Amino acid sequence: MPYGFFSSLKNLLKHGPGALQNLAATAAGIARGRTWDFPPDTMGAAAAPESGAANPLRKFFDARQTGRGIWKWIHYFDIYHRHFQKFVGQEVHLVEVGIFSGGSLDMWKDYFGPKCHVYGVDIEPACKAYEDARTHVFIGDQGNRDFWREFKKQVPRVDILVDDGGHKAHQQIATLEEILPHLRPGGVYLCEDVVGLHNRFAAYVAGLADNLNDMSHKNGEILAVDANGMQRMIHSIHTYPFVTVIEKHLAPVAELSAPRHGTEWQPFL
Ligand SMILES: C[S@@+](CC[C@H](N)C(=O)[O-])C[C@H]1O[C@@H](n2cnc3c(N)ncnc32)[C@H](O)[C@@H]1O
Repeated sequence: MPYGFFSSLKNLLKHGPGALQNLAATAAGIARGRTWDFPPDTMGAAAAPESGAANPLRKFFDARQTGRGIWKWIHYFDIYHRHFQKFVGQEVHLVEVGIFSGGSLDMWKDYFGPKCHVYGVDIEPACKAYEDARTHVFIGDQGNRDFWREFKKQVPRVDILVDDGGHKAHQQIATLEEILPHLRPGGVYLCEDVVGLHNRFAAYVAGLADNLNDMSHKNGEILAVDANGMQRMIHSIHTYPFVTVIEKHLAPVAELSAPRHGTEWQPFL
């Protein structure tokens, strides 16, 4: 069911009791996180180094001193590289919502290589200027589901979607709901600029993630459950400062199970 006031109300009535109970835990987490000051030893030398200038995307960005503009938060480059590097050199079909001055489209083509197909989406007709042999530009409003329905007819394969468009929650949710089911197995959805405390899109994603913990579909085995729709298709949901990433499984997962291996067991469980 698409996101909207009445469907939200209906869902609140349907799932309300559990969701409302959790509000207290959510509020406790918000309060704890606001004042949490980690001791330096957990953040110091042992922490994984950031890839910095060794990251080809960062390199491209740093080298872009003239020409078509790119506008990204610096910490995004590590997130891209972590989730996108498996596609480098492969045939990959990437959609970026939000073209602005065209430089990020150049960056994707450089990073993924000659087998990369780029599809830019923007509400501003001037962005049509960035179309070339490897780059298709679609002019439309990412919050309009009819736009996405037409887009999907014209672009049957999408491996990666980067949402750097209008940054309003309703636009981000419409884009996610229309594109996530359309993404290929192993595909990656990445939404940028999820900013502000109590962000409505982040709250929506937390609700989606809740379904990954579902254990209600018992299938008769001890500690095994049939996967629900989300668990079947979604590998993981990641939250970074200002960024949400959702990865799809390479193949649908039918069951989640926790078998025991070994012969020696403590008696207490
Ligand atoms: C932050 S800029 C994109 C920056 C670009 N990706 C880069 O890295 O340099 C945001 C772009 O989103 C476009 N935009 C705003 N609202 C939109 C909407 N509803 N649908 C599609 N594009 C939109 C704007 O026209 C603008 O070009």
